[in-house]
Amino acid sequence: MESNKFYITTPIYYPSGNPHIGHCYTTVACDSIARYRRMQGKEVMFLTGTDEHGLKIEQKAAEQGVTPKEYVDEIVKVFKKLWSYMNIDYDRYIRTTDDYHVESVQKIFKELYDRGYIYKGAYTGKYCTPCESFWTQSQLDENGCCPECHRPVTEASEEAYFFKMSPFADRIEKLLTETDYLQPKTRAVELVNNFIKPGLEDLCVSRTTFKWGIPVTFDEGHVVYVWIDALSNYITALGYENGAYDDFDKFWPADVHMVAKDIMRFHAIIWPAMLMALDIPLPKHLAVHGWITFNGEKMSKSLGNVVDPFILGERYGADAIRYHIMREMALGADSSFSNEIMINRINSDLANGLGNLVSRTVAMADKYFGGTLPTEREAGEFDDELINEATALRDKLDAFMDETQLNNCLIEIFKVVSRANKYIDETQPWILGKDESKKARLASVLYNLLDTIRIISTLLSPFMPTTMPKVWEQIGAAEADVTYANANKFGVLPAGVTVKRGEIIFPRIDVDKEIDELNKIIGSNKPAEEESGDGFEPAELAPEITIDDFAKIDLRVAEVKACEKVKKSKKLLCLQLDDGFGGRQVVSGIAQWYKPEDLVGKKVAIVANLKPVKLCGVESNGMICAADTPDGGASVIFPDQSLPNGSKIR
Ligand code: MSP
Repeated sequence: MESNKFYITTPIYYPSGNPHIGHCYTTVACDSIARYRRMQGKEVMFLTGTDEHGLKIEQKAAEQGVTPKEYVDEIVKVFKKLWSYMNIDYDRYIRTTDDYHVESVQKIFKELYDRGYIYKGAYTGKYCTPCESFWTQSQLDENGCCPECHRPVTEASEEAYFFKMSPFADRIEKLLTETDYLQPKTRAVELVNNFIKPGLEDLCVSRTTFKWGIPVTFDEGHVVYVWIDALSNYITALGYENGAYDDFDKFWPADVHMVAKDIMRFHAIIWPAMLMALDIPLPKHLAVHGWITFNGEKMSKSLGNVVDPFILGERYGADAIRYHIMREMALGADSSFSNEIMINRINSDLANGLGNLVSRTVAMADKYFGGTLPTEREAGEFDDELINEATALRDKLDAFMDETQLNNCLIEIFKVVSRANKYIDETQPWILGKDESKKARLASVLYNLLDTIRIISTLLSPFMPTTMPKVWEQIGAAEADVTYANANKFGVLPAGVTVKRGEIIFPRIDVDKEIDELNKIIGSNKPAEEESGDGFEPAELAPEITIDDFAKIDLRVAEVKACEKVKKSKKLLCLQLDDGFGGRQVVSGIAQWYKPEDLVGKKVAIVANLKPVKLCGVESNGMICAADTPDGGASVIFPDQSLPNGSKIR
């Protein structure tokens, strides 16, 4: 018997910068699937969350003079705000810093150790600091750099725990090649050839070089390295090895884990191996999608406001953004993003296609029948074609849903939108309206259109949950009419249905004017990468603030009078400053790039009104301003030496 439970997950996101449109894809896609399954009557668990440990977070927090937890807390707020903005209806949100997750991961790590799958060794390899990944020589790119971010790697060695992968190689190969775990299955070849055939390498699963992670309970100094911590979220969030939740037996195994291609390897090989080692059943499907790209590159933080989902959502509505990204992305392939493609698609599919169909139909029902259709009918040419296409839609969607092919679901829905618009041209209601004897035929035509719109909007509602209820209001559909059960039936709207003219659901956008406006908002339509050259990725632009917001930040010139390393810290310097107001002490995470003697006597720019914090037990009253450097370092901003201490910076 088919299970009535449905468990779907997104990856847990790194809160190392604000989310961008690239992050939205998986979440919007999973939300649409979750809504579709709920509509089918399934009991759904939709999980998303944040992956909050690791060196990168530790470094970013130190740069900002806050604790890692304080740092992630702020970014998690932005993620949650975006999900609410995009109308993402998740059932559970996991943070890997949640106590219950920490407890479970410690137990999982110990269990794997006790079962002999985790052992202690030493790791020597090529390490990419920004990606927090060790790579083997053969995995490096053609320039000997990180195969993922293409930045230089360093030789590194440390005592570490390893997870034995080889015992699972055969079973994993079968999983990928002989089952329908992987979607699309064509990706199995690269996984088998690149990772399984050459011999599965054991995975390094602990670190001693940073602290911001889950401590290994039986070996002080080791923290669990990212993947065991991160992947476990899919079961700890259901209460596996913790008392916070009690849904593991109910929802596991997951129906769909959805991820992008860069983390496919971890979900296709390491995650099944972990589950095999723990004797836990395997998830049913791993759906792998490509990247949303911008100028041929994976869209990332570097691209600034041009793709800030908050700005785009504000201008076109969350549903238009949801529609666009899901329609553009074929499972497994990349999809390139540009404002122009997006605006053109909104215009063609949503404004001209669906929006026009709804407004024309409702307007005609209003014009010819005062809003309420007469019950006298006359069937005619073209009706069956329209009705057959509309009623066949649900089954087509069900099949594509099972394959996680959301773009195809939308393509099918919009074929019916086009069919209905064509039906208007074929039946010419404006001619029928002129002839009193054709009223029954006209009523039939309009009813067929309204009931087709009911089917379309019902099946579209998981994808565009904000706008479809507005359509239902306009076509006079009651809640009971727009159910999954009714989505393959015709004649569901009451015979004498009453329509209600309303706002235009998707207004047409003037492409040229809008592109100009967007360019004004971002200052330039060139992606930041192009301007800065050499692959440097500036941090993402923060959301817009007012001059009043800026005025709250008090930036000042100060002089470094003395400077020393903070004991027990490799990263922190303690600076004594003459700030023009009697002096202050500031702790800054710049020790890797500056010696104390490099700074003494120099003028620096400081954030002077920052709330004091303690870093490694030393009080810090403010922050030294520094720019990110392309190699991940920091370059202190040195104002002109002639400026008096305490000068205000605006
Ligand atoms: N924390 C890990 C995932 C752990 S899951 C157990 C991680 N986080 S991430 O924030 O870097 O990325 C999360 C997901 O967003 C990944 O699937 C990633 O590929 C996806 N995307 C990030 N940028 C993207 C695009 N430009 N396009 C599509 N997806 C993108 O990896």
